[in-house]
Parts: sequence; structure tokens; C-alpha cells
Amino acid sequence: MIKILGTGSYVPEKILTNFDLEKTLDTSDTWIVQRTGIHERRIAAPEESTVSLSVAAAKKALAAAEVSPKDVDLLILTTSTADYQISSSAPIIANELGCGKIPAFDLNAVCAGFVYGFCVAAGLLESGMYKNCLLIGSDVYSRILNWEDRNSCILFGDGAGAILLKKENGAPNILAHDYSSDGSGSAYIRIPVGGSKIPYNSNENIAKEDLYFKMEGKKVYEFTIKEIPACVKRLIEKANIASSDLDAVIFHQANIRIIDAVAKDCEIPIEKFFINIQKYGNTSSASVPLALDEAVRKGKIKTGDKVMLLGFGGGLSWGGVILEWQ
Ligand code: COA
Repeated sequence: MIKILGTGSYVPEKILTNFDLEKTLDTSDTWIVQRTGIHERRIAAPEESTVSLSVAAAKKALAAAEVSPKDVDLLILTTSTADYQISSSAPIIANELGCGKIPAFDLNAVCAGFVYGFCVAAGLLESGMYKNCLLIGSDVYSRILNWEDRNSCILFGDGAGAILLKKENGAPNILAHDYSSDGSGSAYIRIPVGGSKIPYNSNENIAKEDLYFKMEGKKVYEFTIKEIPACVKRLIEKANIASSDLDAVIFHQANIRIIDAVAKDCEIPIEKFFINIQKYGNTSSASVPLALDEAVRKGKIKTGDKVMLLGFGGGLSWGGVILEWQ
């Protein structure tokens, strides 16, 4: 069985409210709250970055797990805002934590990163290759957003979450997993410039907004309303349980309307969903572990509970698991 020995999270101190955004953008608190459920988000201080947020969250997860950094033998960072294009950020985190020369790598599945990372970590632990995996989801979208684009910048915030996973003896407790992607929708969420397709030094005429995060919100919304309930229903069926058997749903905090729609469509009482979108907005890879850590610390999850973790986003990529909490 895969046990989550400890969880931790970190958010920057600075709060950016919808009222703050009203001062620089043609938007309103009422519009943002009604369309998204978001009231405020956190913004990293100039000296902070994805690595520093990760280290802070990881330290809390290790403390909760009562595991020394020296006993971590695999570290996975899920992020789409690594500190550098090259090299990856996970080795820097492992070094700063004092984990020694362990395997450490970045995994980018945008907002679905953490749930993809969970599947990779659980698989590697189940295989017996590693014993203690530190899995971190961390993103600093404030650095890649176009703060003049009201269609996207109002949605996101910065944060990090981490969990320490360990394989222990006992019956398998991951009851179901279900992952998918659809690259035909890749352009709906993208930073067009800066990759190998259109490098910064390209001779093409580069529009300033193409250097930043861009999203076709309506297309993404339509995709989620179609694919995510189907994924949730497949998970419930694969786990051979009824939707009423779920004790907690730790869902990607992208939009309260998406959560409401999925809850209704899948006949899961909304009270089962842990919701903190109002405080943090969409923190991408950090969204699920940040919600999970808050739920655990508030005593909302106990041994034996059936817990769903579910994420979705750029790629397009989506998926999740149902596990029995041990
Ligand atoms: N403030 C005020 N008005 C805004 C606005 C803002 N921040 N952003 C857009 N608008 C306007 C639009 O210009 C449009 O005006 P018009 O009717 O005069 O053309 C109107 O509000 C409606 O815009 P629309 O895009 O249809 O809104 P929506 O109900 O689809 O909500 C999102 C927009 C982005 C909140 C919604 O599409 C969404 O949540 N999509 C999914 C995004 C997501 O989850 N992405 C991350 C996936 S990991």
C-alpha cells in the first residue's frame, strides 16, 4: 500500500484581492466572484521563486511525516514555472533540503502536474525501486501572467504543496486511477514564445503578449465540463464504489462553477469537495496538494476514508486517483 506519511504547504505572505485588481484592470470584484469564486490570491515576494516555495512546503511535509531529508530517496517536483528553463529545479530543492545525491526531476503537466506526479511516484514506489518519495507541486504564475489580460490574470496565484509517500506492507489502497490527454487542445493554454518552436531570438515578429501565459477560457471551460465529469465517473466505476461512498474530493481549484457542475453531474454532495479557491485562486500544480494539506490539517480526512484527487489543465491533460487513506 502507498501511505501518505505527511503533507505540507506554503503560500507567500502578499495577498492580492479582487479590489486591488479593480485598480489596474477593467474588472470588478463582483464579476470575478460570480464567474470564478475567487476573492484573493497570493503573490510571491521578489526574492521568492518556485524553488523557495517548494522548500518551505517540503520542510512542513517532512516534519509532519517525521522523516529526515536524508531518508528521502526520490524527489519529484511538478511545475510549469521552474526557476530556470535549464537546469531543472528538483535537484536544487533536494540539495537545499539536504537529501543528498538522490534522483530528482521536474515533471510538467501544467495544472494536472501534481496528480500525474502522484501516479509516477506511486508506480515507482510500488515497483520497489524507491522507499520514500517527496512529491511537490509548486508554481509561481505571477511571473508568467500578462497582468494586462483580464481574461487570465485574475484566475491565478502562487503557492506550493508537498507530500511524503512511502510504500508499506498491506493491501493495495489505490482503488482506481484514470489519466488522459488531448493535444488537439494544446493551443487553448500556452506561452507561445520561448520554447523550441518559437525561441526568444526568433526572426519572426514577436507580439509582446505571446511572451506570457495565454488562455482561451471558454474553450477550456467547455473541455472541463465535457471531460472531467466523465473522468470522475470512470474513477468511481473502476473503484467499484458509489459516488456516495467518497469521503473527500480534493479537486483542482480552477473555478467554483466547474466544481459545482462536476458535483451535480456526478451526484457527489458539494460538502465532500474541499474548497479553498476563494483564498488562493488557481495555483496550478500546487492546487491539489495545497487543498489536501489544508484538509488533512483541519481533520477532514481520516484513516479508511475514500479520497479522490483530481486535476486538469494545459496539455490538455487530466486525471486522478481514488485512494483509501492510510
Ligand atoms: N472582468 C470583467 N469582465 C470580464 C473579465 C474580467 N476579468 N474577463 C472577461 N470579461 C468579459 C468578457 O470580455 C465578456 O464580455 P462581452 O460579453 O462583452 O464579450 C464577458 O466578460 C463574458 O466573458 P466570457 O469569457 O464568456 O466569461 P466566462 O463566463 O466564460 O468566464 C472564465 C471566463 C475565464 C472565468 C471561464 O471561461 C473559465 O473559468 N474558464 C476555464 C478557465 C480555467 O479553469 N483555466 C485553467 C484550467 S487549469
